[in-house]
Amino acid sequence: MSALVNDPFEERFHHAAQRHERAWVFISVAMIAVLFIAAVYLVVHDYGVVAKTARIYADPNTPATLADFQGKGIVQTGPDSFNVYEMARIWSWTPGTATPITLPVGAKVTFYVTSGDVLHGFEIQGTSINLTAIPGVIGHVSYTFDKPGTYYIICNEYCGAGHQAMIGKIIITGRAQA
Ligand code: CUA
Repeated sequence: MSALVNDPFEERFHHAAQRHERAWVFISVAMIAVLFIAAVYLVVHDYGVVAKTARIYADPNTPATLADFQGKGIVQTGPDSFNVYEMARIWSWTPGTATPITLPVGAKVTFYVTSGDVLHGFEIQGTSINLTAIPGVIGHVSYTFDKPGTYYIICNEYCGAGHQAMIGKIIITGRAQA
């Protein structure tokens, strides 16, 4: 075997092979590093949707008494933007369960979410919206519905006997008249 190693052709071949191997090891490590950093970045930024806590109240019953959470709970804030004040209670979403939330496609919607009793999970199926409804805390998240259709708010945090039926409806209508 030692005769082979001394062969000039074999020497050149081994050098070339080692160069390629080093290059490919480096490329693989670089790819893993790029994917890792991209994954961390996307998780931190949650695909562009980040739920933020708007306010925390000392008394958990305070949000339910605020004017925003009385009445319809849907407020137009601009030509193409809406606020939705969402109150979770066992086992319904107000608005959403008794009356669907109707909004135009393409509008920027900011959901302010709180709970009047226990923890609930505010998830809108088919979107990246997912935040916890907490008594005494108002969380908010903004989203633009790009496609008309019916979206369902589902509770994804166990909240008692009616948990699985705690469903709300969002109807996204076609383009609003300009
Ligand atoms: Cu509300 Cu589960």
